[in-house]
Amino acid sequence: MLEVENAPSEQGLKEKAFSYDCDITEQYVAYTEHQGNSPSSFFANSGIYDYAIKNGGVCTFKLFGKTVLYQATNEPLVNDHVLAPTTAPIKFLWGSKFMGACPEEDPERRIKRSALLRTLASPQKLNQMKIEVAQFAEEYLKKSLSKELSLEELSLQLVLYIDSHLSGILELKNKPLNHYAETEKYALFMREYIEIAFKAVARKNKLACQQGELAIPFIKDIIKDNFNCIDSSSCDNIIKKIFEIYDMPWTKKAVGQVPVEVLKELSAIIVPLYETTSVSLYWLISYIESNPTIKEKVIIDSIQAIDLDRLSFIDLVVIETIRIAGANPFVVFRDVIKTCDIQIAEKTFRLEEGMQVCLDRRNSNQDQTIFRCPYEFNQDNIVSILQDDHETIHSLFAHKRYEINSFTAVNTFKNPRKCPGRFFSIFIQSCIIREIYSKYTTHVSDVSLDLRKHSLMPRPLAGAKIRIEKR
Ligand code: HEM
Repeated sequence: MLEVENAPSEQGLKEKAFSYDCDITEQYVAYTEHQGNSPSSFFANSGIYDYAIKNGGVCTFKLFGKTVLYQATNEPLVNDHVLAPTTAPIKFLWGSKFMGACPEEDPERRIKRSALLRTLASPQKLNQMKIEVAQFAEEYLKKSLSKELSLEELSLQLVLYIDSHLSGILELKNKPLNHYAETEKYALFMREYIEIAFKAVARKNKLACQQGELAIPFIKDIIKDNFNCIDSSSCDNIIKKIFEIYDMPWTKKAVGQVPVEVLKELSAIIVPLYETTSVSLYWLISYIESNPTIKEKVIIDSIQAIDLDRLSFIDLVVIETIRIAGANPFVVFRDVIKTCDIQIAEKTFRLEEGMQVCLDRRNSNQDQTIFRCPYEFNQDNIVSILQDDHETIHSLFAHKRYEINSFTAVNTFKNPRKCPGRFFSIFIQSCIIREIYSKYTTHVSDVSLDLRKHSLMPRPLAGAKIRIEKR
């Protein structure tokens, strides 16, 4: 167990209810930044997580000079508007107009969010994409047959290929995203965009800041190289929609003059579109391949097409992966911008302007009071949160559902920032798994489910290999 100075004794816990405010900076930096462990394992191993649980789910400490309210459970504690927008600290990289950096009530933010939801969230739209996802997955997998490949790379390339080709999403058919991922210039940027952003903000890392600036030429290049395909795509196209919202003409000349802030904003939408999903897919295949009984059931289920009106075994497995692994940094700090009182375990706690709030998402997704076997990879964990027989992907991840926190930085009441790409990501993964396990046999080796060190984005250890053969 890590030593945290001034940790209160077991008897002192009750009295000290919210005052675990020792400065943990030194231990935190040594354990996470120097040794490369995840913040969640810091909180678990330091005793902070257990302390918070005994304390109604929260406690406070000092970190980097600020008092932080740490939360170890998934229930919402505050309204979103008392906290600074989630990506405000990285707006110098992702753009100040990106919806994640704008106040919740900003009308332009709402317009952009609704536009994205119309493309990525409606069950009707997703249903129409089913055939294309299968077709593009097959096209890519055919090229990969009988080769020993990195599982991480295959997960990335497959998602890049599908996202680039799907009608009405990006339509980068002339030069798909795969092309840029192969170039020396963009290879790292495309694989570690979220990581780079968090490193740049956390420690003012110069290299990360330089890498982050590549967003500008990257977006210019993909639009310029694919102008004609985007031009002939439907009005749902995410790139065209942003042009429309800003009232910018869609011409080759206008593309050359897009303001830098809009280019950054586009990168903050386009890169997470594939990066989160491909990391999640890497976890998903790793978990399936590490659990023979689950793999067998996945193969049986894979011949059924996805049905958004009911949860299939494969959907449960995808969601279980999102619960246990996640594809977004485990701990994100949000600044308190409005002093308010919150109720925790029948006590009132004053959250003051200048403090921060953080949710320990990995540990809170393993809440023993919610999930049947929280530390195991088991689809029954998802079964245990179903409220009735009619649950779907959409109902399980509705704004007011708080059991699994993988799509918000912290849970706030009604979660207005809950990821607008969540249904699309689950849908794509579910379709890809169907395609792989219904038509191919998989031979996977060197899989590890341990968290990679020195990675803020939760990834399994690198090195897993996959060979796919036609059945
Ligand atoms: C497994 C996949 C994914 C995970 C784990 C994930 C996770 C997250 C998280 C944690 C947030 C922060 C929400 C907050 O501020 O509290 C977020 C926001 C966001 N995500 Fe995702 N995401 C995923 C897939 C996607 C996809 C496919 C897209 C498609 C473009 C996307 C676009 C966005 C956008 C635009 C926001 C900002 C929302 C807002 O501020 O209102 N994400 N996501």
